[in-house]
Amino acid sequence: MFITVERTSEGVRMLDQRLLPSTEKYLMLRSPGEVADAIREMVVRGAPAIGVSAAFGLAMGASDAVERDPAGFDQVMEQHYTRMAAARPTAVNLFWAIERMKQVAGEARSGGMDNKGIAARLEHEAQQIHDEDLESCKAIGRFGAELVADGSRLLTHCNAGGLATAGYGTALGVVRGAVEAGKKLTVLADETRPFLQGSRLTSWELMKDGIDTVLITDGMSGSLMRRGEIDLVVVGSDRIAANGDIANKIGTYNVAVLAKEHDIPFYVAAPLSTIDRNCPDGDSIPIEERDPKEVTEFHGTPVAPEGVGVKNPAFDVTPASYVKAIVTDKGIARPPYTDSLAALFDA
Ligand code: MRU
Repeated sequence: MFITVERTSEGVRMLDQRLLPSTEKYLMLRSPGEVADAIREMVVRGAPAIGVSAAFGLAMGASDAVERDPAGFDQVMEQHYTRMAAARPTAVNLFWAIERMKQVAGEARSGGMDNKGIAARLEHEAQQIHDEDLESCKAIGRFGAELVADGSRLLTHCNAGGLATAGYGTALGVVRGAVEAGKKLTVLADETRPFLQGSRLTSWELMKDGIDTVLITDGMSGSLMRRGEIDLVVVGSDRIAANGDIANKIGTYNVAVLAKEHDIPFYVAAPLSTIDRNCPDGDSIPIEERDPKEVTEFHGTPVAPEGVGVKNPAFDVTPASYVKAIVTDKGIARPPYTDSLAALFDA
C-alpha cells in the first residue's frame, strides 16, 4: 500500500502525488509553511487529506515553537493558522481541521496549560483527526456497499480514494466497501482534466488493490451511459452545503447531468467534516481558480498556443436535485437534504 500523509519525529511526511504514477517519492516537510505550500501545489490533495495534513503541520508548528519562540507561542500559532487557511479555498475540511486545532489550543490555554502541554495536545489532536478520518471512510464504505449491486460498472470522477484521505477513500471507500462485502465490480475512472487525478491517481491506487479498473477520457462518459455501460456514479466532495448542493472537481456537474438524463443513480460519498452547515447552498461555496498553466501545459510542455485565453476553475457545483443520496460516515442521507443532513449531526 502507500501512506498519504503521516507525522514522524522529523516532520510531516507525504507522498508526492504530483509525480504519480511514474514515481513513488515521499517528501519530508519541516515547517507549517512547507505544509501549506505542499497543499497549494497539490503534493497532497483531496479534501480530507488536506485537513489531515494541515492538522499535522500545525502540530509540528506548535512543537517547534515551544523551543524556538516560547514568549510568542500564541502569536506564532495565529500566523500558522492564517497561512494554512490561505492554502486552498474550496475544501472545507481544511478550515474544519484548523478550527478544531485552534479550539483545542484555546481551551488548553484558558485552562492554564503551558506551551509544552498545548503542543502535546495539538500533536494528539492531529493524530486523532487522521485516525478518525480513516475510520469515517471505512464507515462510508460499509454504508455505501449496500448501494452497489454485484457486477456493477461504477463511474467515478477525480480521485476520492486513499490518496485523498487518511488512506481508505470516500467514493473509493464505497468501492472498497463493496469489494470487501464480496461484490464484483468494475470501476470506470475518467481522466479528470486538467490535473488528471483520475488517470494518474485513481487508476494507480485501484490497480494496487487489484480492483478491475477501466480508464476513460472525460468526454466518453455520456456515450457509455447511452450504450448502457455505466450502472451508477459515485464521487467525493470538497464541500457540501446545508441544502445538499455539492462542490467537487470540475467536470462533476457534467457527469451528474448526464447521469440524470440516462436515469443512472448519482451518489456522493463524504464524511461529516465535508458538510458545511454555515453554507446555505452551492452558490455560497468559494470556487478555487488555479494557474492557467495547468490547462495550457502538461509537465512543462505546451499543449495550447501561447497567449490563448484560459479558464481554470478547479471545482464546480452540482445542485442537490441531481444527487440521489449522500453516503456519510453516520449513514446515508436522502432528499430533502436540509433535513436529512441536519439529522446526521444530531444522531
Ligand atoms: O483538486 P483536488 O485534487 O484536491 O480535488 C479533489 C476532489 O475534487 C475530490 O473529489 C474531493 O476532494 C473529495 S476527496 C475524498
